[in-house]
Amino acid sequence: MPPILLTVYPDECDAFGHLNQAAFLSLFERARWEVLRAGPGMDVFDRTGAWPAVRRTVIEYHAAAYPGDVLRFEQELTHVGRTSFTMRQVAHRSTDDALIATAEFVFVCVSRNGRPVPVPEEFNEFMAARRRHRGELQRLAVNGVTLAVEVRGDGPAALFIHGYPFDHTIWTHQVAALEGWCRIAPDLRGMGQSDAPDLGYSMETYAADLAALLDLLGARDVVLVGLSMGGYVAFEFLRRWRERVRALVLVDTRAEADTPEGRMARDTSAATAREQGAAAVADAMLPKVLGASTLGGVPATVDRVRTMMAATPVAGIVGALGAMRERADSTPLLRELAGLPALVIVGDEDEVTPPAQAKAMVEAIAGASLVVIRSAGHLPPVERPVETTDAILAFLAGLP
Ligand code: MLT
Repeated sequence: MPPILLTVYPDECDAFGHLNQAAFLSLFERARWEVLRAGPGMDVFDRTGAWPAVRRTVIEYHAAAYPGDVLRFEQELTHVGRTSFTMRQVAHRSTDDALIATAEFVFVCVSRNGRPVPVPEEFNEFMAARRRHRGELQRLAVNGVTLAVEVRGDGPAALFIHGYPFDHTIWTHQVAALEGWCRIAPDLRGMGQSDAPDLGYSMETYAADLAALLDLLGARDVVLVGLSMGGYVAFEFLRRWRERVRALVLVDTRAEADTPEGRMARDTSAATAREQGAAAVADAMLPKVLGASTLGGVPATVDRVRTMMAATPVAGIVGALGAMRERADSTPLLRELAGLPALVIVGDEDEVTPPAQAKAMVEAIAGASLVVIRSAGHLPPVERPVETTDAILAFLAGLP
């Protein structure tokens, strides 16, 4: 079931145009009714004679929302007792994925005369099935390391490979929205919540980790979606397991190997990471990875990306820099991909892998198409999540 999308209206806002805190209670409630409407029915509590009365509410407001904003509400049962249950709800703005508010509601089911009664089984089962479908972050042992991976939904598999130094959450919007696909979004070794060994990083190792992960999850064929370094890993995967790849989505990446100057810059970054830590690398990279529109206008995204980069283990940073430094030139591979459905996406403000590099890849892969995402830098899935998801959705819908 997709998350619930609700629009903010002017009558819900205060004199400064901010969504009013009290109106949020109604929006959270509306989202819960929408979940029931699409599931066991809005009358599920009437039918079962057990009415959920709110016993406790905790809301945290993280950022302002404005008239016209479309908010994405996700809800999850976090506890079910005999007569009570707890629901956690999270609201993000759809356009930039900014976290707007989180809430926790504790309900006690009561009969018409106000006596506590058991939580209706039908409701409990429906929500539990949703939780299974939504997928938790799993920790799976593959290829000598434990990888954190989010697996969501059923259907043909799409593997989302993040770049450096990020984690699987750059794909949050896409993973939430691509219904009908089994979305697999791991943290590569050394990044996010995966193991970060001191040694053993190369494009071959990253690709072998992912092949082993797909084996473990029973996914034989896959659509590869790789951003930047994730694209380099996708190229390596293709060199080794071309027959497993149904289609390819390259996001803000390049096929060329590092230049001699690029290799020197990798060494400098590795020294910075060793001497000053991940935060110094994050500060140096932030102005390059985000587009001017994001840097100037979306502080929540700037914070989110900086926090993600600064949380990367130093071993993973140094390992990834070494792996990228030594990676093969993949431009000859592009010519061999004729017949493979391919989409290339790039942010028009990307200075790390600019649109010209994306166009060169499209020209080299026979039949590939290009989508340029406006007002995005190197991270369109985070900076312009809706547009990026739409582009991937349209591409997936056209696959044979
Ligand atoms: C990435 O986003 O993965 C990196 O910027 C890639 C690179 O440095 O070549």
